[in-house]
Amino acid sequence: MSQALDEIKIGGLGASRKRVEDNRFIRGKGNYTDDITLPGMLHMEILRSPLAHARIVSIDASKAWDIPGVHLVLTGEMMATRNLAWMPTLSYDTQAVLATDKVRFQGQEVACVIADDPYIAKDACEAIEVEYEALPVVVNPEQAVAEGAPVIRDDKENQQDNVIFDWEVGDAAGTDRAFEQADVISKLKLHYPRCHPSPIECCASIADFNRATSKLTVYMTTQAPHIIRAAVALVAELPEHMIRIISPDIGGGFGNKVPVYPGYVCSILASILLERPVKWIEDKTGNLISTGFARDIYLDGEMALRRDGKILAVRMHCDSDHGAFFSDAQPSKFKIGLLHSAFAAYDIPVAHLSDRGTYTNKAPGGVAYRCSFRVTEAMFFQERMMQAAADDLGMDQAEFRRMNFVQDDQFPHRTPFGFLTDSGQYGKCLEVGLKAIGYEDFRRQQAEARKRGRLLGLGISTMTEPLGAGNSREYDILGIKMFDSADLKVHMTGKAIVRTGAKTQGQGHETTWAQIVAHELGIPAEDIVVEEGDTDTAPFGMGTYASRSTPVAGAAVAMVSRKIRAKARKLAAHLLEVSEEDVEWELGRFYIRSAPDRGVTIQECAMAAYSNMPDGMEPGLENTAYYDPPNLTWPFAVYIVTVEVDPETGVWDVLNTVAVDDCGVRINPMIVEGQIMGGLTEAYAMASMQFITFDADGNCIGSNYMDYLLPTAWETPGFELHSEVVTPCPHHPIGAKGIGECAAVGGPAAFVNAVIDALSGTGVRNIDMPLLPDRVWEAITHRRDVSGGPPVRSDD
Ligand code: CDP
Repeated sequence: MSQALDEIKIGGLGASRKRVEDNRFIRGKGNYTDDITLPGMLHMEILRSPLAHARIVSIDASKAWDIPGVHLVLTGEMMATRNLAWMPTLSYDTQAVLATDKVRFQGQEVACVIADDPYIAKDACEAIEVEYEALPVVVNPEQAVAEGAPVIRDDKENQQDNVIFDWEVGDAAGTDRAFEQADVISKLKLHYPRCHPSPIECCASIADFNRATSKLTVYMTTQAPHIIRAAVALVAELPEHMIRIISPDIGGGFGNKVPVYPGYVCSILASILLERPVKWIEDKTGNLISTGFARDIYLDGEMALRRDGKILAVRMHCDSDHGAFFSDAQPSKFKIGLLHSAFAAYDIPVAHLSDRGTYTNKAPGGVAYRCSFRVTEAMFFQERMMQAAADDLGMDQAEFRRMNFVQDDQFPHRTPFGFLTDSGQYGKCLEVGLKAIGYEDFRRQQAEARKRGRLLGLGISTMTEPLGAGNSREYDILGIKMFDSADLKVHMTGKAIVRTGAKTQGQGHETTWAQIVAHELGIPAEDIVVEEGDTDTAPFGMGTYASRSTPVAGAAVAMVSRKIRAKARKLAAHLLEVSEEDVEWELGRFYIRSAPDRGVTIQECAMAAYSNMPDGMEPGLENTAYYDPPNLTWPFAVYIVTVEVDPETGVWDVLNTVAVDDCGVRINPMIVEGQIMGGLTEAYAMASMQFITFDADGNCIGSNYMDYLLPTAWETPGFELHSEVVTPCPHHPIGAKGIGECAAVGGPAAFVNAVIDALSGTGVRNIDMPLLPDRVWEAITHRRDVSGGPPVRSDD
């Protein structure tokens, strides 16, 4: 007689459990870095460069030192005496901590003041006199490689130009041959503009060095605490076991809080020198002009096609603008992240991709803003190219995708760039999406409306995202292999604590990790606490970005639960006085196979682990699992958007948005929906309003929320979400695939495709994001493409 628990009732897999972390957040009881005050704490402010490229002639900080309440002024010169003026980046480059020779972008860190309060520190920053000698400025890749361009990184031996790398992947010769066979060659050039993850909370740190214990504790807003600990140990040459990084609550990360920023290093050095805690809270402008920019890439590609619609090959070239320092984190094998995951969903025999990365006089860029290392750019190009190619062939958008999809029976499938995708139902997702949007009907309405001068459009975008780096064979950052971990302790009363090496920034790990344990052990989720972010207590992990938490850390949670269950089985056999082989498991309970009424609960086993273990058994019920995934997980999604464009003004309104996401097994459907809605909101923002650009002098236009727009609930359209397609990941212990970023990755192309579709027949093939009304209006009026490349001012 089964006494199995109801999994949904105990908050296991599939339960839309309310987020436990929200309890404190909505009561204002979150604990963010700025909420922490330590005895004797001082405050740090940063002086930033007003110029984008200039030689530093002199820095005179004497007036700052004279201001009462100032304890320390740090300059590049002082940092250099401690070998800290430069630091290594996560991409094998170097980055100035405080400028010594030159400033290389507007907003670069030049000096820091540590004072009794942040206002004194800010005033003292303004009292520092810096003499600059302006240098010519480079603001885009074209200028970077132009003859006579100033060499931005003249600090680097052997760097004669502004090229960081020339990287390629795929089969160049095979691609050339396929293009020779093509009936039609479709071409497209795009610019994915620079944008910013813009989390609500800016970067922050409090460094607290205790001379008596030699221990350095740093509270900070990092998405990857263990990586920061390793970086601090290596850069500052401090013993790793004497460094404790604590990431308390984080107000959003989206990739912005992965890199190591100069502010962290300066606050640490200041605390060591002053032997007092030093707090640095970045302001919004500092965050918007100096940290973690994303995208900024020029994509130029072509597709070889057979007349019947079969794709024969793809060729892509990219120029990526990385700013003054190549500091974005990505697996070290791949210079351009996972951009070559493009076209994974389509059965394309051969492809080639090349990328030239350049330095410019802009803040470091290229962070994986809510995406798995450049996959957003890949999917944007892919789906814009798919639309252009279908139009060139005169084919229906849905049919063109349908006929080129990797079919369900083709898995595992090798993509043209060498990835192995393992599962998916691409055609089914598309059909669900088309039905939901009312595809045929909409096409009829569109044709009718066109006769009356109304411009309706429909955009389709699909995406497949490689989520969950490692495996460790192929994926590492700075040589550190990408895997993750979980540590589970079940107390004697059957309550438990699980810790992982990931770090939630709002994704809800405190809720969902407990659900995985509940699923594996039958312990109610409410009896399990989840803790992340403290390197002294959490097991080693690579952190949370690239939606890798569920694929890797979540898998580790399942695996450590299984280790616990294996030990609990031995305890159960002991309590039931039978051999282990006679013991069966059902959710939350072991029972005797031949006498199902006789059983013991997981809680009884937990008590026995501390009070009645068999002879020779190690007491306690706890374990750790390190999980090295065999492959990435490959979620898939179809996003379909319908719009109406006003031909008089270029204003466009979203009529309907349908999202069909297949992320395998959903741990918490409500949280998954929240992730998709957030991603679609960001996708809509990128497509409609967001970009950060620079004038010819390298002045950053977009350093505040008047210029850089974030959509509020007022502007954001409604989204219709579909969850009926579920293709479990074949290698993930609970069949889950990542979801956090999918909609931000695949969404932008759906919005843009819809607007371009509305303009079909006008000769407009491309409008670069963001599709601001004036750009759309210009395209309609002049019947031409509108490039969104950075404006160049010529008034000097
Ligand atoms: O790495 P990150 O947490 O940003 O992304 P993720 O692993 O895709 O997870 C985002 C949130 O969605 C987490 O709370 C996950 O546990 C949850 N999730 C889920 O409930 N089911 C899935 N199949 C994937 C994620």
